[in-house]
Amino acid sequence: MVKAVVIITVSDTCFKNHAKDESGPALVQLVKEQFPDAYIHTIIVPDEKELIERELKYFCESNIDLILTTGGTGLSSRDVTPEATKAVIQREVPAIPIAMTLESLKKTPMAMLSRAMAGIRDRTLIINFPGSKKAVVECIEVVKPVLSHAVSLLA
Ligand code: MTE
Repeated sequence: MVKAVVIITVSDTCFKNHAKDESGPALVQLVKEQFPDAYIHTIIVPDEKELIERELKYFCESNIDLILTTGGTGLSSRDVTPEATKAVIQREVPAIPIAMTLESLKKTPMAMLSRAMAGIRDRTLIINFPGSKKAVVECIEVVKPVLSHAVSLLA
């Protein structure tokens, strides 16, 4: 059962102006629909690898089942979410981003430009999503069917 979820928006722009964050609230909405009883916590961090790593580690130590990040998966020099994720996970779950990419490519070739990762640290599943609201909505549909089972395997 998914009891506690943290949603991390990774974006310099949204960190400076929280009102600009559309993908974080979209993820909250989608998680609420699927897990109405789950505790959901949200934060916004800038595109800084050490900061992202620190938050990921902190929430993995805080009995969080699932951490969903949005943003910072692309090709610009500030996009470091996958590197931060790679630094904290102990085991990668490569088929999650593969599935998101395959499905997303049916909608846009730009899906090739996301370097999103997924993996496990202790008992927490971490999944990166791209930064746009549209991408978040498209990608969560792909992973929705496996989230509950994936988390139950880590308990
Ligand atoms: N995936 C889906 N499903 N839909 C999208 O619109 N946008 C792409 C890609 N993945 C997109 C998508 C684009 S334009 C970029 S640049 C990359 O995700 C990385 O986005 P990010 O740097 O905001 O994480």
